Amino acid sequence: MTDKLIIFDTTLRDGEQSPGASMTKEEKLRIARQLEKLGVDVIEAGFAAASPGDADAIHSIAKVIERSTVCSLARASEKDVRAAGEAIKPAKHGRIHTFIATSPIHMQHKLRMAPVDVVARAVQAVHWAREYTDDVEFSAEDAVRSDMDFLVRIFTEVIRAGATTLNVPDTVGYSLPVLWGERFKQLIARVPNADKVIWSTHCHNDLGMASANSLAAVMNGARQVECTINGLGERAGNAALEEVVMAIKTRRDIFTCDTGIDTTQIVPTSKLVSSITGYPVQPNKSIVGANAFAHESGIHQDGVLKHRQTYEIMRAEDVGWGANKMVMGKHSGRAAFRARLQELGIVLDGEAAVNAAFARFKDLADKKHEIFDEDLQALVSEGEVAQVSEHYRLVAMGAHSETGSSPVARVVLNVGGKEQQADAQGGGPVDATFKAIEAIAHSGTELLLYSVNNITSGTDAQGEVTVRLAKGGRVVNGQGADTDIVVASAKAYLNALNKIQAGLQRSHPQL
Ligand code: KIV
Ligand code: ZN
Repeated sequence: MTDKLIIFDTTLRDGEQSPGASMTKEEKLRIARQLEKLGVDVIEAGFAAASPGDADAIHSIAKVIERSTVCSLARASEKDVRAAGEAIKPAKHGRIHTFIATSPIHMQHKLRMAPVDVVARAVQAVHWAREYTDDVEFSAEDAVRSDMDFLVRIFTEVIRAGATTLNVPDTVGYSLPVLWGERFKQLIARVPNADKVIWSTHCHNDLGMASANSLAAVMNGARQVECTINGLGERAGNAALEEVVMAIKTRRDIFTCDTGIDTTQIVPTSKLVSSITGYPVQPNKSIVGANAFAHESGIHQDGVLKHRQTYEIMRAEDVGWGANKMVMGKHSGRAAFRARLQELGIVLDGEAAVNAAFARFKDLADKKHEIFDEDLQALVSEGEVAQVSEHYRLVAMGAHSETGSSPVARVVLNVGGKEQQADAQGGGPVDATFKAIEAIAHSGTELLLYSVNNITSGTDAQGEVTVRLAKGGRVVNGQGADTDIVVASAKAYLNALNKIQAGLQRSHPQL
């Protein structure tokens, strides 16, 4: 019999701690819905005490997610735990995840607390959390550098207090598979009642070992893996969900457990997270990179044509590649459009939103023959972009570049109800467009990132642009999509400016 391996996704919490990856409530809701479709068991939706915006996003996610457990992180303080408890209240299945550091270096220099007080605080936090839910997770932050006897002591006490999942984090990405596996083996052998709780692993990727360490923990008794889509996360990131899940599935001969993940949703989820956060996926990234299943060498191509398994250990379609469906074109009707959105699990808020999305679809179909699922996802994102109150709205624009002369751009914006126009020169048409926008907006923002990805293949594909702007320590991502990448760039820039204007920007989620 195979055990269930719980997949705990922390893209919306640890993932969001990547610089510039902070998301709005609507963006988090879209990702949460997709994570549920993917079959994730636990969604860590945020850190309720970090800001009222975080708490609100967790609360909204808790209201709409039905199958996955919705979790909030909380430091081991009464204020944090109660904020988490309130945020997850509407959830069908809710969890509080409380943590405190247990390594000598953290206890002495960060917490300035004696070990005995750390244990007492952990126990107290679990008691507070149990007032809200039976599903309480406790993490010993920096467990990798914690003393083994101390870990045994604190885990023993929190089980007694009512914790149901014990998480062992490699907070700094320091461990190696052989050591991490051994740590789990010893903990499970030494902690009384270890068999009454779920043991969880949470690994960071500073030495590129996060997935390998997580799998070593699983081989030694862990039954929950904490991970993120595309390995997004603090510093070098967290264990990548797609790597852990596909290793378990592909090496059934080794692992005695299985996940409930619908692996065909892996690539769509990866693309959604990448487009919302503006973190591109490197082409050679395992599972979700554009080249992960591409065979370039003649010998490999020949082998695969003769017998696929000569060079392939997984099937691209099993992880959601090649599932691009040519859904519709210019002549498709409203009913077909609505049906395809439903199949994709896209929920639009009311008739007006469907009508607006359908109008954008018709617009796009005029420019592009084939509309793929990814185009529909982008259309919906554009709708969400439009929901951000539009202080700056693009009325018209033009850009011109020619060899031997400086590119120029003209933009006409509606600014708070009044039309304004500006012209500018730049290093390229995008640079000139941004300069023309700034000649009107004078936003005082700093451009941190500009990235373009084509949504599907082909030269008529839509370009999806992410622009990351910073102002006064705040960072926002703006998105825009269009078959003309200069127009997509202008849309993305204005979306970021509108977010700053509307106060949608959040401080960095890590307190
Ligand atoms: O890396 C870490 O230790 C964490 C904990 C809060 C679980 O993210
Ligand atoms: Zn972490």
